[in-house]
Amino acid sequence: MNTMSIIFQNARLINPSENLDAKGSMRIDGNGIIDQVLTGADIPAKEGDRVINLEGKVLAPGLFDLHCHFREPGQEYKETLETGAAAAAAGGFTGVALMPNTRPVIDSPLGVAYIRHHSADLPVDLEVVGAMTVESRGETLAPFGKYSSYGVKAVSDDGTAIQNTQMMRLAIEYASNFDLLVMQHAEDKYLSAGGIMNESATSAMLGFKGIPEVAESIMIARDLQLLAWLKKHKLNGALHEPRYHVAHISTAGSVDLVRKAKAEGLKVTCEVTPHHFTLCDEDLILAAEKGNYIMKPPLPSKENREALIEGLRDGTIDAIATDHAPHAKHEKECPPDQAAFGIIGLETSVGLTITELVERNIIALPRAVELLSSNPRRILGLEPILFAAGRKANLCIIDPERCWTVENDSFRSKSRNTPFIGRTLKGKALGIYHKGIFTGE
Ligand code: DOR
Ligand code: ZN
Repeated sequence: MNTMSIIFQNARLINPSENLDAKGSMRIDGNGIIDQVLTGADIPAKEGDRVINLEGKVLAPGLFDLHCHFREPGQEYKETLETGAAAAAAGGFTGVALMPNTRPVIDSPLGVAYIRHHSADLPVDLEVVGAMTVESRGETLAPFGKYSSYGVKAVSDDGTAIQNTQMMRLAIEYASNFDLLVMQHAEDKYLSAGGIMNESATSAMLGFKGIPEVAESIMIARDLQLLAWLKKHKLNGALHEPRYHVAHISTAGSVDLVRKAKAEGLKVTCEVTPHHFTLCDEDLILAAEKGNYIMKPPLPSKENREALIEGLRDGTIDAIATDHAPHAKHEKECPPDQAAFGIIGLETSVGLTITELVERNIIALPRAVELLSSNPRRILGLEPILFAAGRKANLCIIDPERCWTVENDSFRSKSRNTPFIGRTLKGKALGIYHKGIFTGE
């Protein structure tokens, strides 16, 4: 047992769950339990206490990423639970939700148990998202009741989407019976087929097949109609109102649909990735390594990026999630139309959020913490993290002033597929404190 207490002093304590934004200090006992929080003053150190001065730094609840791919089981050459967790910790995350598109797909309690078993000793909590359909083929529903009894909180066929509307209707109803969150990767496969980037003048100029932006919003419109109808008629006597979450939202049309659905009182939330609010389709023109600009959904047009930023500003967008999607070098350094979709994101998320949103006065730092921590936890139905005596310390330390350059060698992730290498960012996560252990600089 660890007996040394830690005191974080002179920190800017930010905790949106408690409306807290104040200078203060926190004492954590040797078992990782908070024993004192003091605002406006320093906690006096006792003999043997380790004092860490956080002058100019933020002490926030541990960040939570709603959308990650750790590739284990089956594609460990891209990422493992261990390397993914190390990347998460380096990015300030104490928890992540793992998408089920592994090999095999996590579509049964067996897969859930595998991840639980292999993650118990990791510094980061891994929440398993169960597939909605067997092998995510959109044909047969997975065992949602079993998931629920294994503590699974959400279902998704991420990477694909249920194309059959009747199957989607059944999935939403079935999920609502167990109060499972439906996380949708919204993509009409017939519209997107063969496309690798946003369909636009730029895709025409580059000679790449485009994905029309309505491929996303049409699916969301369909799902929201199902949701509204199921809510109205309480079909099959569902115990809970359906909850629906749009993953990696990327167009103005989609944001408008979510805004209206929220105004109508539906239980709808959505997330955006740092790359979708930072980059746009025109960035492909000059990109030397075009593979690192290929992802699903594709990088938006400038106008759609503006709409995402407006959604972050006005509260329509609830969370920032990375869609951390590791791929090996040979899967990205190839002709763009052969590249695997997706980029890594855990280690650049805080830097991009502060550089692109906070430094440009689009949002304030407490709102950034809300988007990266308290809202994602609430969306998934996790307990809020409180800064109070007797609570487990689950924290991240952020230096909002630190300027740093993203370098190939600086990653903990097993993969390097990111367009941000070489970019200078302001704001960096310095570490996490979770499970009684400090991991970081
Ligand atoms: O770009 C993406 N990559 N989008 C997805 O939906 C899946 C992900 C992956 O698994 O690589
Ligand atoms: Zn996805």
